[in-house]
Amino acid sequence: MEKVIEISNLSKDYETGFWRKKKVRALYDLSLSVESGQIFGFLGGNGAGKTTTIKILMTLLFPSAGSAKILGHDISDVSMHSQIGYCPENPYFYDYLTAFELMNYFGEIFGISGTKQKERSAELLTKVGLAEKDWNKQLRKFSKGMLQRVGLAQSLVNDPKIVFLDEPMSGLDPMGRREIRELIAGLRETGTTVFMSTHILSDVEALCDEVAILRGGKLAATGKLDDLLATGAEQQSFEITVSGISAAALSNFASSAGANVKEKANGVSLEVGSESQIDAAMKAVRENGGRLLSVQPVKQSLEELFVEKTKSADS
Ligand SMILES: Nc1ncnc2c1ncn2[C@@H]1O[C@H](COP(=O)(O)OP(=O)(O)OP(=O)(O)O)[C@@H](O)[C@H]1O
Ligand SMILES: [Mg+2]
Repeated sequence: MEKVIEISNLSKDYETGFWRKKKVRALYDLSLSVESGQIFGFLGGNGAGKTTTIKILMTLLFPSAGSAKILGHDISDVSMHSQIGYCPENPYFYDYLTAFELMNYFGEIFGISGTKQKERSAELLTKVGLAEKDWNKQLRKFSKGMLQRVGLAQSLVNDPKIVFLDEPMSGLDPMGRREIRELIAGLRETGTTVFMSTHILSDVEALCDEVAILRGGKLAATGKLDDLLATGAEQQSFEITVSGISAAALSNFASSAGANVKEKANGVSLEVGSESQIDAAMKAVRENGGRLLSVQPVKQSLEELFVEKTKSADS
């Protein structure tokens, strides 16, 4: 697989204070890479360094040390910008343009014009779920969620190979989140690589192939989401859900196998510590007149992983 984003030993110090003498380190020696066609989740608590990293990649900030490549070009080579898209955190645009005018403006920057551009603007504004009645309203009258949608539409104007989204779901209502989640999933179908920062873990679980978790400007974990969640569990266990039986009926099996049995809304769940215990559990269920609903490996939840990886070492 081709690596389309390669970040090598990136560090960033912000200079603060009146004389810009004080330095605050926001990123420490960050290295990571993203393969083509992936939806990559960039996670971390508030102030972890996500926006700083994305801004460095977009050349809106200079790194204090290290380098990065996008599509094989050093980030200082801005010619590659014609092939990427970017939606900033809390996008802010020219207040007095309408959504449609803004889209046409960005289209012109990328050399798309005339009817083709108008069609493209309409297609993208529809895709991000902005109602047609709002297309000709000035952006200063837009709500946060509406601006977020325009930001996303603008990031796709040039049909980018990679799109960088800094918290694309922020400010969206549940319907909006669902629409944008579907839009991002649709980008996978067209082979677009997505690099997105977010705090919304359910979106990460639904969308992302790989993730990186930052803590205090340092990389705390990176890899395929499935692998990270699987290795988080100390030992693989399985949850068997059955119906037509009470938890008490399985108490003999539970005590001999050391299994954990719980009443649930849709039946009874049985947690066994290994694959080899599944058959024995099923036998006990059948003998007691129960019926199998599902067998699932128990994984560490993303929330548990996130909390574990972002807890500060001294807390
Ligand atoms: N312009 C700036 N001047 C000084 N420090 C800054 C500046 N911008 C960010 N920082 C600091 O850099 C660190 C990383 O901030 P950054 O905005 O990259 O975090 P983030 O992961 O995007 O957080 P959030 O989830 O809240 O958006 C923070 O400690 C922040 O205070
Ligand atoms: Mg941020």
